[in-house]
Amino acid sequence: MTETPRDAHEFGFSTEQVHAGYLGEAGHGARITPIYLSAGFVFDDFEHARARFAGTDPGYVYSRINNPTNAAVEKLLADLEHGAGATLVGSGQAAATVALLSVLKAGDHFLSAPSIYEGTRALFRGNFARFGIEVEFVDDPNDPADWHRRVRDNTRLFFGEAIPNPKNDLIDIEAIATSAHEHGVPFAIDSTVPTPYLLRPIDHGADIVFHSTSKFLAGHGNSIGGVVIDAGRFDWAAHPDSYPHLHQPIFDDGVETATWVDKFGLKANFAFARAVVAGRFGTSLSPFNAFLLQQGIETLSLRLDRHARNALAVATWLERQPEVSGVDYPGLPSNPFHALAQRYYPRGAGSVFAFTLAGGQEAAKTLYDAVEVFTRMTHIGDVRSLILHPPTTTHSRLSAAEREQAGIHPGLIRLSVGIEDVEDLLADLDRAFRVLRGENPPSLRGAGGDAEFTPADGL
Ligand SMILES: Cc1ncc(COP(=O)(O)O)c(C=O)c1O
Repeated sequence: MTETPRDAHEFGFSTEQVHAGYLGEAGHGARITPIYLSAGFVFDDFEHARARFAGTDPGYVYSRINNPTNAAVEKLLADLEHGAGATLVGSGQAAATVALLSVLKAGDHFLSAPSIYEGTRALFRGNFARFGIEVEFVDDPNDPADWHRRVRDNTRLFFGEAIPNPKNDLIDIEAIATSAHEHGVPFAIDSTVPTPYLLRPIDHGADIVFHSTSKFLAGHGNSIGGVVIDAGRFDWAAHPDSYPHLHQPIFDDGVETATWVDKFGLKANFAFARAVVAGRFGTSLSPFNAFLLQQGIETLSLRLDRHARNALAVATWLERQPEVSGVDYPGLPSNPFHALAQRYYPRGAGSVFAFTLAGGQEAAKTLYDAVEVFTRMTHIGDVRSLILHPPTTTHSRLSAAEREQAGIHPGLIRLSVGIEDVEDLLADLDRAFRVLRGENPPSLRGAGGDAEFTPADGL
């Protein structure tokens, strides 16, 4: 976090999203940070190379470790999240991996909220288990007692997802962060769905924030990416027994003896995650994708305002349909998480949510196949509206009992509401519901389906 002078003007989010991170461009005065597609960076001479490797010359070395395009976007994301530093990685899954493996080692145990992205759950239960790291899921993440009673001597981290996809069963971030800190462990959070425009978890006590940037941050469905942001606030130095790797010498040459906490203090975990975990597992993001991400972030606030407005209108409309037995959108006053939404998401509760058709899987199939504007795709946070049937796709590997427990009923459909004209989204859903009712409504494309241009062209 760069120190802001006390008398400095406080810039708004929309100003920061287009100005923060710009590092100046060497040479031609380009206003947009260019794509530096170069694997390595030239050393002037023998001593220059030595200094770059020793870290006494701060320049770039090799794009797996650092790159000017990526550095600009990392600075931008760290500023937008109120973090101390950011590391771009190749995907949201890579972000979860780097964020947690920088803290956890074989023999450790960590606690997770139950409602999380299925890819993350599989990573925890499958891959981390193979490394000897054990995950345990709490039943009710908003009951501090549930976290407290599961803490063991080897518990090293709490984890949760800000707006869980697809059920939107919001977590009380401040309460979980407080519980984690009472037990001397950091709280890591996946904040993919809100993005820093709707929520800054660090302002609410989170220590490590990660995102799949493939979603709203990039925004246009064109590139996979991820980012890990560190608050630079957790006192790693105070817990030598829990995080011994940060208390070991950075170099094992026997000459330099400084440890990670000696050299980096509150940024020890950030430095370790970047150099040892991301750097050595090789999770780097291509500068090309970093550039696409930068372009996306420049319009983040505009898009998210529109996404959230459209989502509320669609959720309100769905709630009125007799075939719908439930709408999981916390922006609705009827939703059990509405009070948390008002507290944490005053700008809107995102635009990825589920609704359930009382008619079960058959009804879901009919509706799914009937839409013409919504795109059938497993992705979220795209400018285009997307539709998915989680029980037979993302959640198909769970047992039927696990799906029921998670509220993933056979008639559940997930929407990621885009930025199209909301009248067109409602017209599409209205037509699909008429198909569900056994009517035979005309295509939005017109009777022959050959109108010159419709939003459904190319679907
Ligand atoms: C909430 C959340 N976190 C993480 C991920 C993983 O991101 P990626 O697909 O970029 O690896 C996803 C993907 O859908 C997600 O929805």
